[in-house]
Amino acid sequence: MFAHRIPCVVLFIQPIYAMWACYRSCPWSCVCTQERSCSVLCDRIGLPEIPKEFPCEASFINLDKNNIKFLYERAFGTLPLLKGLSLSHNNISFITPGAFKGLPNLTELKMAHNEYIRYLHTRTFSVLKKLVKLDLADCNLFNMPDRIFVELPSLHELILFQNNFRRIPGAIRGMENLTHIYLESNRIEAVAYNSLQDLINLKYLNLQDNKINVIHDRSFQDCQKLEYLYLNDNLLNELPENSFRGLRKLKMLNLGGNFIRNVSNVWFQDLVELEVLYLDRNKISYIEEGAFENLTSLVTLHLNSNNLTTLPFDVFRPVYFLGRLFLFRNPWECDCRIKWLRDWMDNYKLVRDIPCSSPAGMDLSNIAFQRSQDGTCLDPWDQNYTYFVPLPTDGLPSTMETKLSSLISRLLLPRGSYEEIGNVTDYPDNNTISDGMNTASLVSVQMMTYILCIIVSHYSILL
Ligand SMILES: *[C@@H]1O[C@H](CO)[C@@H](O)[C@H](O)[C@H]1NC(C)=O
Ligand SMILES: *[C@@H]1O[C@H](CO)[C@@H](O)[C@H](O)[C@H]1NC(C)=O
Ligand SMILES: *[C@@H]1O[C@H](CO)[C@@H](O)[C@H](O)[C@H]1NC(C)=O
Ligand SMILES: *[C@@H]1O[C@H](CO)[C@@H](O)[C@H](O)[C@H]1NC(C)=O
Ligand SMILES: *[C@@H]1O[C@H](CO)[C@@H](O)[C@H](O)[C@H]1NC(C)=O
Ligand SMILES: *[C@@H]1O[C@H](CO)[C@@H](O)[C@H](O)[C@H]1NC(C)=O
Ligand SMILES: *[C@@H]1O[C@H](CO)[C@@H](O)[C@H](O)[C@H]1NC(C)=O
Ligand SMILES: *[C@@H]1O[C@H](CO)[C@@H](O)[C@H](O)[C@H]1NC(C)=O
Ligand SMILES: *[C@@H]1O[C@H](CO)[C@@H](O)[C@H](O)[C@H]1NC(C)=O
Repeated sequence: MFAHRIPCVVLFIQPIYAMWACYRSCPWSCVCTQERSCSVLCDRIGLPEIPKEFPCEASFINLDKNNIKFLYERAFGTLPLLKGLSLSHNNISFITPGAFKGLPNLTELKMAHNEYIRYLHTRTFSVLKKLVKLDLADCNLFNMPDRIFVELPSLHELILFQNNFRRIPGAIRGMENLTHIYLESNRIEAVAYNSLQDLINLKYLNLQDNKINVIHDRSFQDCQKLEYLYLNDNLLNELPENSFRGLRKLKMLNLGGNFIRNVSNVWFQDLVELEVLYLDRNKISYIEEGAFENLTSLVTLHLNSNNLTTLPFDVFRPVYFLGRLFLFRNPWECDCRIKWLRDWMDNYKLVRDIPCSSPAGMDLSNIAFQRSQDGTCLDPWDQNYTYFVPLPTDGLPSTMETKLSSLISRLLLPRGSYEEIGNVTDYPDNNTISDGMNTASLVSVQMMTYILCIIVSHYSILL
């Protein structure tokens, strides 16, 4: 197993020689190609261990999906030109701290899906001074030594999803050159005030699908370059006021699939570049006025699958928001309080699909809000044209009277003329409809008579 290796001397001569050199010492049953200058492809060939020899010129080695268990000292010999090494989907359970010696130019190391790794020594990667990307996804890691990355100044991308971390590994603290961290699908319970300390170049942080129930105040404050933040599918029910303070470059924030009930108007104050905000699949029933106030770049807002019965227009004041708004799967009470949304549906086409819990079975887009004589909006009543409850008393019961008169006025004020008025402004309508009334009343006395006849005859039949 510890075979003596021929010292590797890379000869830079003619390209034709380089090609020959790559093939010359190609490991048995592997394929060597000139792709990426010299690629050694040994994937899916049932190797129980690392081949004894690789071409000195190797720039990329693929050993995926074999049955490799151990990485001994200098497991790959000396390969000064090696840039990429992939060992994913093996059965590696032991890595000697010096295993990667002799690979001074390695920039990308993939060891994902080796479920028996579990533990890593502090010095496992310390020789990989040029390492940019490290993939340790799905390796059953519970923790890692705090100083494991201190000698990796070039590390930009750290892929650690689908492990067993219960806290954000302390090893990332101070890693000022990290730009991407993948920690989704672990068991992380908190984002502490110092978990992300000094990550000043971090652009992408994925913490989705963990068990986070606490985020300390200002825990993201060092990550001023953060652009994508995934906190969805955790156990958050509250966020501190300054959670996202200073994240002026943030483009996407995903808080979906948590247990948030109230949305504070201070959380998003600094997120002036935010384009997409996910608040879907929470328990939101209350959004403070001005919650989205500074979100001048917002393109999409997901509020679907919450517990919203109404949404005050002031939530969007001042109106910068001109993107898509997702509001389905909420127990909407489609009354005059959200008539402004109805107007948005008509005017901007940015909102659609708002099924009402009351009136049940209706969609907000089908509701024609009517107005009383004095111009105030009238709440819709349950549209039930076919069934009238017969009552033993004389005359119409008062609720039915209201319903009938509402029905009459609805029919008297056809949607066309109404919408023309409704189209005038972005604001919830506050102007009177006296002009509209005139148009509407022209629609006809004839029609009214006809309707009254139907109603009266219907009523007498029921009696
Ligand atoms: C890394 O690779 C370059 C060529 O791409 C080479 O010139 C250099 O010597 C290598 N570095 C080391 C430490 O071998
Ligand atoms: C992988 O390694 C573990 C322990 O090291 C062993 O129990 C298991 O049988 C191995 N699996 C395969 C497919 O070789
Ligand atoms: C970040 O990169 C710079 C330049 O490449 C390097 O000097 C510095 O030591 C690195 N920082 C860390 C913490 O590795
Ligand atoms: C959420 O808002 C409601 C209405 O303002 C308030 O009564 C309640 O206390 C708030 N809950 C929390 C957890 O802030
Ligand atoms: C955000 O809104 C607050 C008022 O709620 C305002 O004082 C502040 O200047 C705004 N910040 C930005 C960056 O626009
Ligand atoms: C929805 O909000 C109401 C209060 O508006 C509350 O009584 C109810 O329990 C909430 N439902 C859920 C599923 O959170
Ligand atoms: C119509 O109203 C009656 C009595 O209020 C009710 O029993 C019936 O279910 C309603 N029908 C529909 C379709 O809502
Ligand atoms: C609403 O206004 C827009 C633009 O001002 C216009 O194109 C559209 O026809 C109007 N809709 C109605 C129903 O009047
Ligand atoms: C309607 O309300 C808006 C803002 O609340 C106001 O600017 C506008 O002048 C009002 N229009 C009328 C006709 O009162």
